[in-house]
Amino acid sequence: MTAEQLISFARGAPSLDIIDVQGLKDAAARAFDTDPAGMTAYGTSVGYVPLRKWIAEKHGVSPDQVIVTNGSLQADAFLFNHLVKPGDDVVVESPTYDRTLLSLQNLGAKVHQVTLEPDGIDVAELRELLESGVRPKLAHIIPNYQNPAGVTLSAEKRRDLLALAAQYEFLIFEDDPYVDIRFRGDALPSMLSQDTGNVVVHASSFTKTVCPGVRVGYLVGPAALIDAIAKKATNLYISPGMVSEAIVHQFCVSGDIDRSIATVSKALGERARVLGEALRKHIPGATFTEPDGGYFLWVDLPDSVDVDRLFPAAMKKGVAIVKGTDFFTDGGRHSMRLAFSAVTVDQIEEGVRRIAAAMDELAS
Ligand SMILES: Cc1ncc(COP(=O)(O)O)c(C=O)c1O
Repeated sequence: MTAEQLISFARGAPSLDIIDVQGLKDAAARAFDTDPAGMTAYGTSVGYVPLRKWIAEKHGVSPDQVIVTNGSLQADAFLFNHLVKPGDDVVVESPTYDRTLLSLQNLGAKVHQVTLEPDGIDVAELRELLESGVRPKLAHIIPNYQNPAGVTLSAEKRRDLLALAAQYEFLIFEDDPYVDIRFRGDALPSMLSQDTGNVVVHASSFTKTVCPGVRVGYLVGPAALIDAIAKKATNLYISPGMVSEAIVHQFCVSGDIDRSIATVSKALGERARVLGEALRKHIPGATFTEPDGGYFLWVDLPDSVDVDRLFPAAMKKGVAIVKGTDFFTDGGRHSMRLAFSAVTVDQIEEGVRRIAAAMDELAS
């Protein structure tokens, strides 16, 4: 099986056909024409100033509450490095994004995974954990179309979490790169927008709405925290990439970003639907909920399927999945995450057929 023939449900990245390459080329030309000095200079660690201002306006905050970073994973890393010391308690969802889980583990944090329900984190379980005496530095929450489970945190739980954070004095880290990729339903207000006690730090990204290669993400939070992180960022790299931030800025102010969001949302909504149909047809023992947005579909397989064995068997058949175990400190042996973002509609059924064939082979 050659690399060209691999069907990848592993990558949480948009396929090339839904990236607005021409729009980005035009945005780059406009950026070099309008601000050659600003975009070719070092700049400072808070990021390209016009983009910082655009992000601040989008979130209704002051620019000194924003730092623009090389992708939101870097924003996550800055926040974790600033706040979390070895032995500190932190709360994450169960399952949660594998890279942030790994970052927190590498920092020596004591990670408490709290069950994720179809309407978001189990707030009662979190409350019990807090009442038992655990005092987390932060709770990492992916509120919309969660990675990896695809679920969305309800409005009521958003309010509950804000109240718990104020009562027990922990920070809510609202990690929200998927919010704009919506297939149906209305957007819920972010926790950042409802924060009256400076308990929320919010991250987002242009990876899922524009493309990952620009590596532009950001953090919004209390000005003092952003300032402290900006000082550390200066020491680390002086400034993030001004050229791509200036391109993203032009892409945003022209309104191209709205078209890009519409393109990606329409395509991914269709792919999610086709993936659901293919799973029902070829893997009837699988249980899953079709997400209302985002990039991922989480699949629970029968207990007889061990994903440690399924992963290599599926690779041999030419299909990549992500093992459920990657998203837990302990668990996920019978689950997998399927990203429907990097596959085109015509690859989906064949990809699912290959997974089913790998399952059959393991069973026999
Ligand atoms: C929840 C979450 N946070 C952060 C990231 C990192 O994204 P970026 O490309 O902006 O670094 C991802 C990417 O998949 C993600 O799912």
